[in-house]
This record gives sequence, C-alpha cells and structure tokens, in this order.
Amino acid sequence: MLREIVVYPDKRLKQISDEITAFDNSLHTLLDDMYETMIAKNGVGLAAVQVGEAIRALIINIPMKDKERGEDQPRENTLEIINPRFITCEGSTIFNEGCLSVPGVYEDTARYEYVKVVYHDRHGNEQTIEDDDFLSIAIQHEVDHLDGKVFIEKLSFAKRKKFEKEWKKRDRA
Ligand code: CO
Repeated sequence: MLREIVVYPDKRLKQISDEITAFDNSLHTLLDDMYETMIAKNGVGLAAVQVGEAIRALIINIPMKDKERGEDQPRENTLEIINPRFITCEGSTIFNEGCLSVPGVYEDTARYEYVKVVYHDRHGNEQTIEDDDFLSIAIQHEVDHLDGKVFIEKLSFAKRKKFEKEWKKRDRA
C-alpha cells in the first residue's frame, strides 16, 4: 500500500524514532509499503518516520551495475536496516543529496566517507555492513531521519537561509 510522505517542515520529521523490538507482520507490512512508496516516488532511500511511523527502520535501494545482476534480476536491490548503530565512521566527503521529504531540492552535504554499521534485518537477525561509496552516504542520510534530522539542516547558515526563503515561496505558490 502506498503511504503518504511527510514533507518538510512537518514537525513529525523532528521525532526521535524508537528502537524496534517486535519483528512481526506489522513491521513487514510497513517495510513493504515503504518499498512501494519509495519506488513510486523514484526515491533511493526512505526512513519509517517519513511515512509517519517513528520507529528505527529504513530502506535503501542499491543501484547495481548491469554486470553484477543476472539477466532476470531486478535492477535494484533493497537493503532493509533496522536499529542501525555506527561502529566506525572515518574520513569525510561531500555528496549532492536529495530527499523525498524535501522534494526537488538537491544540496552538497558533508558526510563521513566510510561507515561500518551493525543492524537488524526484518527477522531480527544481527547484520553488519560497511561501505565507502553511495551506500555509506545513503545510510548516514537515513539514520539522520531516525534522529529527527533532515539533510538541509546540515547546510551552512547562508545556504540554509536561502533554502528557507525559497521553500516558503514555493509553499505559497
Ligand atoms: Co531523506
């Protein structure tokens, strides 16, 4: 089922999401709905709080190169991350990010280059992932949502002011 995406500056995006303890059908339905919603909106990542559920779950679509997938494999691979915890964060990089909760806005954002994360899958099994590329950025962006933060809050004061002015103008349009 498609879910409505919470759009900035809705206060629900400021909630700190709760740890998940029940890896049950309602969680699986939510993850499936999040996937459907993300694909429908051409997003690459989505946190549960962006569909109004303040729990620590997020999904990321990993683009695969043609040679990495077989002929009958889907082009994308979805990673489901529950209760993520950073074990290592190293280096720094800048990435031009966007967000389904701030549609149409893309800004260079400062991130760690490399992260190693421990998390649960949808069945409650502990998993580990590490990356120093697109996935690293996407995880950091989505985990920020779980902590009530949106990427535009990381912009410089001047850029943020410019964004807020333009966003208000668009609200009225
Ligand atoms: Co986002």
